[in-house]
Amino acid sequence: MSEGIDVGSPDEIEEGTAKVVEPEDSGFDEPIAVFRTESGCFFALNDTCTHEEASLAEGWIEGDTVECPLHSSSFNLRTGKVLCLPATVDARTHKVAVEEGRVVLYPGVDADDAARTAD
Ligand code: FES
Repeated sequence: MSEGIDVGSPDEIEEGTAKVVEPEDSGFDEPIAVFRTESGCFFALNDTCTHEEASLAEGWIEGDTVECPLHSSSFNLRTGKVLCLPATVDARTHKVAVEEGRVVLYPGVDADDAARTAD
């Protein structure tokens, strides 16, 4: 089980934007994008699109999805599921939570596993 990484206060990530946590800060082998939706929910996916080299953090967040800025594939922020071509591979999720007023990322802990263990 990965230790949580403090990525800042919730206010440091504006709604509808994302913050990238680099491997040297997370200990994970790829950059991770921590997204804040317009409704204020936090989700985390591998930042690099599964299609080519593009940062999903630079994409467009709409509802619970993010659209890749390069070729417009969309990914579900909750599940990482790819929703349209040209990408065909799902994005990896990571657990993220707001704990004691801080946004805490759990690199390498799948969001689904986190949801199951929270039951
Ligand atoms: S790089 Fe993301 S859809 Fe092509």
